[in-house]
Amino acid sequence: MPITILIGAQWGDEGKGRVVDWLASSADIVARYAGGDNAGHTVALDSSVYKLHLVPSGILHSDVVSIMGNGMVINPVNLVREIESLRKLGLEITPERLVISSRAHIITPAHVALDKANETVLGDSKIGTTLRGIGPAYLDKTGRAGIRTGDMLLDVEEFAERLIATIESANARLALQGMETLDPQSAAESYLEAAAVLKPFIKDTSIYLYAALTAGKHIVCEGAQGTLLDIDHGSYPFVTSSSPTAGGALTGLGVGPLFVDRVLGVAKAFSTRVGGGPMPTELEGEIARRLRGSGDNFWDEYGTTTGRPRRCGWLDVVMLRYAVSVNGFSEMMLTKLDILSGLDELKLAVAYEIDGQRHEYPPVNNETLDRATPIYETLPGWHEDISNCRAFSQLPAAALNYIERVASLCAVPINSVSVGPERDQLVLR
Ligand code: IMP
Repeated sequence: MPITILIGAQWGDEGKGRVVDWLASSADIVARYAGGDNAGHTVALDSSVYKLHLVPSGILHSDVVSIMGNGMVINPVNLVREIESLRKLGLEITPERLVISSRAHIITPAHVALDKANETVLGDSKIGTTLRGIGPAYLDKTGRAGIRTGDMLLDVEEFAERLIATIESANARLALQGMETLDPQSAAESYLEAAAVLKPFIKDTSIYLYAALTAGKHIVCEGAQGTLLDIDHGSYPFVTSSSPTAGGALTGLGVGPLFVDRVLGVAKAFSTRVGGGPMPTELEGEIARRLRGSGDNFWDEYGTTTGRPRRCGWLDVVMLRYAVSVNGFSEMMLTKLDILSGLDELKLAVAYEIDGQRHEYPPVNNETLDRATPIYETLPGWHEDISNCRAFSQLPAAALNYIERVASLCAVPINSVSVGPERDQLVLR
């Protein structure tokens, strides 16, 4: 099994962190390929809860190498902070265990300031970004004006010069929008310190991965965000600025497609979304509150990165079917099935009705999608506590029926479900 790609099949927050943690137990390398610290991957382990934003979830396994790929955008100061906090929790983080691509792009303080300024200007039509500077950093990347992690290997003065130039160019844009500008010198200082810490971790990860693959190593590609937030395939412009889909894993790591033999789509058993943009099955009221949880538990539906309450709704099979077609999943996993326990009935959006016509796939324009009414199929719920189930045969008939119906509507097998946040709360076929 050379490469397994793990993809969020919805709008992010599908519980990918714990799935990567599970897959990592039989992997040599876990590699992240897109996004930055907009992600929040949570893994519960031995009464500790690890919240990872930049470092791949493989870091929790001492025999796994974690790679941060070229497709990522990295805030070096936040990365150093994350490494320090993981070390405090007892994890060993060395350049042998964590390798950072020299081709990833750097998020500067200017990108963070521009992200905030852009959202302020958009007002009510804002995207609802995580305000981590993701969009502006990718904009500089594709505009060929970005700075890269490899630049941290240059001598300090040269790196400082590049950093200051980026900040000065952002200042011009900030001033145009009537926003406060940054002091380039002081903004650069903490970055120079971070660069000194990170230098030994930086390598050409594409070459590293090719050597590993040809030596027969098994790599798990850890997707961040989700298919419906993809810059090309998501509900544009309410998307992130990277490619969290299967194709993005290849370009975001610099590996060839022939090494991939498994594409695992991870979907939550219901829908959630954080930030703006269409969500046809969004619910308000009692069921939404129930799906969201009180916020007292780390697995409740509040953003790991921003703390924002997530919008919740019934499982949207139309979107899921679309995610299947974009990524070509070889199988899917359903997470948080336990949260559905106790509901008398469950609904699945199997199609949309738009202007009197039935649609099996989402339309491209948000204006059309806004007119979509979900066509629901109602399934019986179950009342049993399923958190201790560990085999499909232990699940109640209604839960099995729900899983099989989703699999059949998507025409992809579902071979695993999660029934709680702990490492062992998995039900495998
Ligand atoms: P950005 O990635 O910060 O630019 O945010 C763009 C959109 O993606 C917003 O709707 C965010 O809420 C959403 N987003 C970004 N990262 C995540 C994530 O890890 N989980 C869920 N939503 C995300």
